[in-house]
Amino acid sequence: MKILHKGAEAILYKEDNNLIKERITKGYRHKVIDKNKTKYPTRREFKLLTKAKDLINVPNPIKVEENNSKIVMEYLKGDLLKTTLGTYNKNKREKVAKLIGEQIALMHDNDIIHGDLTTSNMILKDNKVYFIDFGLGKISHKLEDKATDLKLLQQAFESKHYKHDEELIKNTLKGYKKSINYKETIQRLEKVNKRGRYKRKN
Ligand SMILES: Nc1ncnc2c1ncn2[C@@H]1O[C@H](COP(=O)(O)OP(=O)(O)OP(=O)(O)O)[C@@H](O)[C@H]1O
Ligand SMILES: [Mg+2]
Repeated sequence: MKILHKGAEAILYKEDNNLIKERITKGYRHKVIDKNKTKYPTRREFKLLTKAKDLINVPNPIKVEENNSKIVMEYLKGDLLKTTLGTYNKNKREKVAKLIGEQIALMHDNDIIHGDLTTSNMILKDNKVYFIDFGLGKISHKLEDKATDLKLLQQAFESKHYKHDEELIKNTLKGYKKSINYKETIQRLEKVNKRGRYKRKN
């Protein structure tokens, strides 16, 4: 067993070619709160992965043990975009951003909201962008939810990839043009962005 990542709520380790994501029960937490942090997100993530796997690139979900808050999924041997995106040349960066947008378009056209679109949750493997970490995701057809998903990604580019943020946003949206609701979602994104600016002034 090789620990790959220890987050606030989960540890991830590798066993053979599988990745195990285990949400940690904390003894000091009330049982009800604990389940909200462990069992239910585990269930939600596995369900979303299972739905997403026929539509976009995600690790293959293998099994879930809800009572142990464990998900077993395919281990993706690739580049975590958070650490590698900044090292690519312009051409590769543009291509990858476009792929990100295309995948999000497919996701949103099938009413999957990721909920945590950052480059820490994207892996490039065999020239395909894979999405991981659906623990904050949900099913929704609302434009507001889709626009909020894009807004989060925009903020992630601005904070983690500020050297290329405008280019990354532009190319992601180029890819997102594939969405059947492209226009409406972008209009809503502009509204959400304006609202943010207005809020900051107060
Ligand atoms: N299927 C996978 N294949 C390879 N690496 C993975 C896989 N799933 C997760 N990882 C690695 O583990 C890290 C954490 O995974 P994930 O984002 O699902 O957990 P998390 O608890 O939500 O972490 P955080 O709170 O830091 O976002 C990822 O950034 C990635 O490096
Ligand atoms: Mg994550």
